[in-house]
Amino acid sequence: MTEPLVLGIETSCDETGVGIVRGHTLLADAVASSVDEHARFGGVVPEVASRAHLEAMVPTIERACDTAGIRLSDVDAIAVTSGPGLAGALMVGVAAAKALAIGVGKPIYGVNHLAAHVAVDQLEHGPLPEPCLAMLVSGGHSSLLRVTDVTGQDGGVDPLGATIDDAAGEAFDKVARLLGLPFPGGPHIDRAAREGDRVYVDFPRGLTSRRDLERHRFDFSFSGLKTAVARWVEARERSGEPVPVNDVAASFQEAVCDVLTRKAVDAAVSEGIEDILIGGGVAANSRLRAMAEERAAAKGIRVRIPRPGLCTDNGAMVAALGAEMVSRGRTPSALDLPADSSLPVTEVLV
Ligand code: KG4
Ligand code: ZN
Repeated sequence: MTEPLVLGIETSCDETGVGIVRGHTLLADAVASSVDEHARFGGVVPEVASRAHLEAMVPTIERACDTAGIRLSDVDAIAVTSGPGLAGALMVGVAAAKALAIGVGKPIYGVNHLAAHVAVDQLEHGPLPEPCLAMLVSGGHSSLLRVTDVTGQDGGVDPLGATIDDAAGEAFDKVARLLGLPFPGGPHIDRAAREGDRVYVDFPRGLTSRRDLERHRFDFSFSGLKTAVARWVEARERSGEPVPVNDVAASFQEAVCDVLTRKAVDAAVSEGIEDILIGGGVAANSRLRAMAEERAAAKGIRVRIPRPGLCTDNGAMVAALGAEMVSRGRTPSALDLPADSSLPVTEVLV
């Protein structure tokens, strides 16, 4: 079987995603988001997310099958996000996937959400270069991974560094809130920053001092930056002057993108890797995309970033990783596979 037909289910956070792929070809990518239900809380409420997954699951599966023009019985395998993510939310997806696998009598693959953010790029740019340096930047994670086998075989996904406090997306969301922009803040900061001055405020670049680089060369820290923005805004408000939202957004975004791209390129160079892949919701950021391209090119490194719709959480990424599991002959998961909210990135298939 060279081109497996795989249905993937993603429910780790607030998107109910059902994707269908044939090998590296995307056939359907149905997403139902509960983001609007969380907006007034300024963050994702786990119980609200779980209930929304439950309601959206069957209609989203039906929509994906209709779009792909397939029947459930046609699929070769079911893939599902086993973790990491919100425990209750994951459980809905895992239970649905198990029911489908039993119903259609097909194997099930419980996979890692983070590795799926890497695998999704195959749907757009073809086979993954292995090794590649993957930078995952989302609302829950910021990490640099050396990927020699995206299915995780023989230490194929090796973490080089990660955030020691807030994730990059979390920093975008918190700073957006400070600036009075809606949740989730990333896209709003991105838009505001286009009209702003990137060098208006010189915000701190976390873990980039010479001393930090000794211990945390490939790690990230964004909580100091978030605090610096909060202090700056407070000082402005106290002095009675208006806060230049676009300029603060642009300066904050510049600080995040500067650190992310600097460390990603440094990691690729130090590992002798010629391809950087960026995934996760923050990879949708226009400044990050441009800066990564520019800095990598200066070192002769190629950059692959999926289109924004495939960077944020979706089911196609899970289907893509599932298809890779089938193509590479990996053993399916047991039917009692768990939903593991803190699944380590090194464990790609449960
Ligand atoms: O990967 P994702 O959809 O969900 C998680 O697994 O967290 O990422 C969501 C995060 C949010 O923090 C959101 O603000 C951020 O990605 N994000 C962006 C942009 N679009 C989404 N951050 C910066 N710029 C964007 N254009
Ligand atoms: Zn994600």
